[in-house]
Amino acid sequence: MIKVEFHNREKELKRLMKIAEFEPHTIYFIFGPINSGKTALIQEFIRRLGKDYVVFYVNLRGKFITDYQDFTRILFKFEKRKREEILKEILKTTTRFLSTRGIPVSEGTIDLILAKRKTEDVFEFIEDYISDIAKEKRPIFILDELQVIKDIEIDGKLIYKLFNLFVRLTKELHICHVFCLTSDSLFVERIYSEAMLQGRADYMLVDDFDYETTVGFLRKYSFDDEEIDLAWNYFGGKPVYLIKAIENKDTLEEFCEDSLEIRCGQILDGLYKLKKRDEKTFKLVLDLFETIKEDGVKYKSLNDALEWCIDKNILFANPIKRVVKPQSKLEYLAIKKVLDDLS
Ligand SMILES: Nc1ncnc2c1ncn2[C@@H]1O[C@H](COP(=O)(O)OP(=O)(O)OP(=O)(O)O)[C@@H](O)[C@H]1O
Ligand SMILES: [Mg+2]
Repeated sequence: MIKVEFHNREKELKRLMKIAEFEPHTIYFIFGPINSGKTALIQEFIRRLGKDYVVFYVNLRGKFITDYQDFTRILFKFEKRKREEILKEILKTTTRFLSTRGIPVSEGTIDLILAKRKTEDVFEFIEDYISDIAKEKRPIFILDELQVIKDIEIDGKLIYKLFNLFVRLTKELHICHVFCLTSDSLFVERIYSEAMLQGRADYMLVDDFDYETTVGFLRKYSFDDEEIDLAWNYFGGKPVYLIKAIENKDTLEEFCEDSLEIRCGQILDGLYKLKKRDEKTFKLVLDLFETIKEDGVKYKSLNDALEWCIDKNILFANPIKRVVKPQSKLEYLAIKKVLDDLS
């Protein structure tokens, strides 16, 4: 079996390690185009952490959260052991401690937590719990796919309460690093302009591989210059597409053309549906397609056309630089081809 090894990202890893070494003082939002390797990067970061660190990684992808109980079941991992035993394991381990299923707590705590009908109380519980760990170790809390809970209301907007907890853990108490990952740029845009996070959050872009990184990656799988050119010209540095290119190396040209055709079909399908529903936005999307450049274009504020393209993962908006660009090279090629087809 051919296994794809984690590749490069040394610059990003160095930055993450630096952040981890420093006292927590801000929430970090890790954002980037879809499938750019955010989750893979954070996993590698966790692997490299030393024994002082205690990591709680929670991935909200695919999680169905409608109420308070759903949310607590995701945040916590209920164990048969007593609180003291759990804490002992966390503090005494000789490698970094990692829980990928939420914060481990004893089963005896279930009732206590669920009885706390208010999210604020649960967050107080987490604060106390993390404070205890922080006396001896360095806790890191990572929430992947944060946008899953962007609109959830549990006696008020859940996300704001969560942000309050994160501000408390970082800026106020300095006891826990907090990293939030998302590829939803409409959501990042919202967070970025959120008053309650001003000066309390930092942003780290994880983009697709650059050209050199892509070449290095493909060389590992014996791509020659011509094959590298072909893959780069169709897929740019998006890891997920490159992995598929490696898988289809023997029929690379055909695979590239098929991929483009499929992506064009998807975009056209979306456009026809949009046209039926909202002719005005449809026309604006086509205008936007005309003006979009591979490296992106500046935008001032989002409008319906931009939002539609972002929502359909055709374009990616970077609210910090205020640049909107195709999600990848494949999307760029598809946009231009769709315009040709429609003209
Ligand atoms: N640096 C890397 N080296 C090797 N493979 C990578 C690397 N980065 C990402 N990948 C692979 O590319 C695929 C997409 O990566 P990943 O899921 O981390 O992206 P993501 O940005 O988290 O995606 P999403 O937008 O869905 O959250 C995965 O299969 C992953 O293993
Ligand atoms: Mg991810």
